[in-house]
Amino acid sequence: MKKIKLHDKEFRLLLEASVIDSAIQELAQKLNRDLEGEKPLFLSVLNGSFMFTSDLIKQITVPGTEICFIKIASYAGTCSTGKVRELIGFNKNIEGRTIVILEDMIDSGNSMAYLLDLLAARHPKKIVVATMFYKPKALVCKIPVDYYALSLENDFVVGRGLDYDDLGRNLPDLYILDDQPANHA
Ligand code: IMP
Ligand code: MG
Repeated sequence: MKKIKLHDKEFRLLLEASVIDSAIQELAQKLNRDLEGEKPLFLSVLNGSFMFTSDLIKQITVPGTEICFIKIASYAGTCSTGKVRELIGFNKNIEGRTIVILEDMIDSGNSMAYLLDLLAARHPKKIVVATMFYKPKALVCKIPVDYYALSLENDFVVGRGLDYDDLGRNLPDLYILDDQPANHA
């Protein structure tokens, strides 16, 4: 069993890179079909989404596709604080645009709920949510999760852009926290 150590914690392999790659490929194909004629503006939520964005966007073939990056944060350690900080340096005019938010992970949904409110106030034509990973059992905010590549149990994971206190983002596979207490979320 493939294991790694980040800071004080051990993680074991959960998903091989190839599994994630295939799921992202399928997601890209769906988006290509559904966004036809939309000139979509993809909004990648940093830091965690950098790898997902890069993997997905190479496979998006919709004419008029644009990408920009925004930054928010809601995590400290392995448990969501439920607090989201402000949106950093985003001044693009999105009025009348079709927005596709790209997230690495939807967990409680707090960050996404916050982001959706902020963006809705800028009058886009529509907002679509696409996430690489989704933990349906962890969701506490009522938000639309329009597209996801893979759904996960309510466990803490690293790799593929996701970190544990800044480590692990570079890993191409996904790892799960080993030896978790029963109710860690
Ligand atoms: P939410 O606001 O609780 O939905 O959390 C969203 C953000 O928390 C994600 O975009 C991730 O950056 C981070 N996050 C959520 N779950 C995990 C995890 O299992 N590992 C690492 N980061 C996570
Ligand atoms: Mg994130």
